[in-house]
Amino acid sequence: MTAPLVLGIETSCDETGIGLVRGHQLLADSVASSVAEHARFGGVVPEVASRAHLEAMVPAVDRAFAIAGEKLAAVDAIAVTAGPGLTGALLVGVAAAKAYSVALGKPLYGVNHLAAHIAVDQLEHGPLPAPAIALLVSGGHSSLLLVHDVASNVVPLGATIDDAAGEAYDKVARLLGLPFPGGPPIDAAAGHGDRSAVAFPRAKYRDGTLDFSFAGLKTAVARWVEAREAAGDAVPLNDVAASFQEAVADVLTAKAVIACRRNGVTDLIIGGGVAANSRLRALAAERCAAAGIRLRVPRPGLCTDNGAMVAALGAELVARDVAPSSLDLPADSALPVTDVVVR
Ligand code: KG4
Ligand code: ZN
Repeated sequence: MTAPLVLGIETSCDETGIGLVRGHQLLADSVASSVAEHARFGGVVPEVASRAHLEAMVPAVDRAFAIAGEKLAAVDAIAVTAGPGLTGALLVGVAAAKAYSVALGKPLYGVNHLAAHIAVDQLEHGPLPAPAIALLVSGGHSSLLLVHDVASNVVPLGATIDDAAGEAYDKVARLLGLPFPGGPPIDAAAGHGDRSAVAFPRAKYRDGTLDFSFAGLKTAVARWVEAREAAGDAVPLNDVAASFQEAVADVLTAKAVIACRRNGVTDLIIGGGVAANSRLRALAAERCAAAGIRLRVPRPGLCTDNGAMVAALGAELVARDVAPSSLDLPADSALPVTDVVVR
């Protein structure tokens, strides 16, 4: 018997992501991004994102089915990001998912965006180890989670107390005159810089918690750049980017290793847009190897928001016979990470 075909819909931010997954097999991952429409504002404009989702939805779904060579009628279940995210943007995806569910007469799963960022790794590296520690780093979240079971039992261990890691990238990029979103251009500039050029602060590094703080780092970069400019000196952009990136990667990986040790866990999964970062991936690999921790990070294209991750989590829920959501499923912009499925 072939595994069920699951359609995944992701619209929590600026990516309209449609994924088609059968079991652990990724059949199609179609992403339409409105990022270019937000670039001049230096951040995602919720109303612009919602409108873009509305326009992109049906073409993105059609594209996914064309890529997979499957028919809409073959779908066995629909999964959609119910939160957390931008309310208006989430609503477009949730409404579309309900429409497909009713039209096809198939079950609907409203799922947690953060759990989906973890579940996507199954498409690349097979069944998730359990328990595992997950480091989730994106534009909206920086969290350490103890994942007993991605389908039902996710325990938060720590989170950012101010800016998310990706938010820090985006803000630092802006002050360095680099485009939005800031992660990719900083990553690229850092590749040509000296990561020990500037000793930027590592907040909460040895505070004993598993929380993060990145607002002070962003301010430290701003002050450093201002001082150089006030002195009439050129700003060594590549060195600043590399030193900032080192501070972020250092704190994230150090705390991820501590989280594993404290909980006696030997598997670490990194997910979310910032997991696409080259230095974070390299330093995590180095430190995990030294600590005897197995590391799993999805390929960069599956780290940033996409529909495949939602379909991957949906497929897992279907495989476990988890009860679907009700058709009056709400979008919840502040959905807690402990709620993997919304009823
Ligand atoms: O997971 P994601 O696509 O959306 C959210 O759920 O937020 O993450 C987007 C974030 C942005 O802040 C972006 O700057 C960051 O991920 N990002 C990166 C890289 N690629 C994307 N940050 C650092 N290095 C990268 N290569
Ligand atoms: Zn995300």
